[in-house]
Amino acid sequence: MTIHIGAKTGEIAQTVLMPGDPHRAKWAAETFLTDAACVNQVRGMLGFTGTWNGHRVTIQGSGMGMPSLSIYANELIRDYGARTLIRIGSCGAMQEAVKLRDVILAMAASTLSTPSRGIFRELNFAPCADYGLLRAAADAAVDLGVGAHVGGIYSSDVFYDERPDLTEQMERHGILGVEMETAELYTLAARYGCRALAVLTVSDHLKTHEALPAEDRERSFGDMVDIALRAAFA
Ligand code: HPA
Repeated sequence: MTIHIGAKTGEIAQTVLMPGDPHRAKWAAETFLTDAACVNQVRGMLGFTGTWNGHRVTIQGSGMGMPSLSIYANELIRDYGARTLIRIGSCGAMQEAVKLRDVILAMAASTLSTPSRGIFRELNFAPCADYGLLRAAADAAVDLGVGAHVGGIYSSDVFYDERPDLTEQMERHGILGVEMETAELYTLAARYGCRALAVLTVSDHLKTHEALPAEDRERSFGDMVDIALRAAFA
């Protein structure tokens, strides 16, 4: 048991999928895992451990934003021995070629700042995905017939952004989408020698202002979980 996770030692798998929304953790565990048991309810940030194709997996909510994800990822890695962490979440598209429901596999995550900023000082650390996971996820997306893009994303500190000039510069520099967690996940994975990847479904579009209807989100979310599980155990 840690400050934020109530699971006993041994109740967390070495492979952890991390949706932002704890209710999606429950849905994904019930839909994809065998013998899923709830291992965390502290602050309602639900976590479940079960098996997928015989492999032990934990699906633990991360909450929204890098400070929240940082708490859960730190405790999962340092206290429970998690070694492979895959974020499964939504993002806003920033390029015309990226469509609603497409999947983005985040190769690198630009950011203004992460909770780890303090240790880097003048250094612009470049948080990046684990190559083996990234390649396996790209293969899984092809096998499943899911439209996927591999490239850079932006991990923002705000959902309601007031810097259109920054968005414009990122679009110019090919950033595919925006979300709020991945840069810190990749930074922690680098620090502790773990594997990390973010598999993101496009839920809204910054250029066309379209948004995925609520009923479509679940099915698209399922593709993401499938890709993440196949990549983890490829
Ligand atoms: N901005 C930030 N985070 C997000 C978005 C967005 O448009 N969509 C999903 N997560």
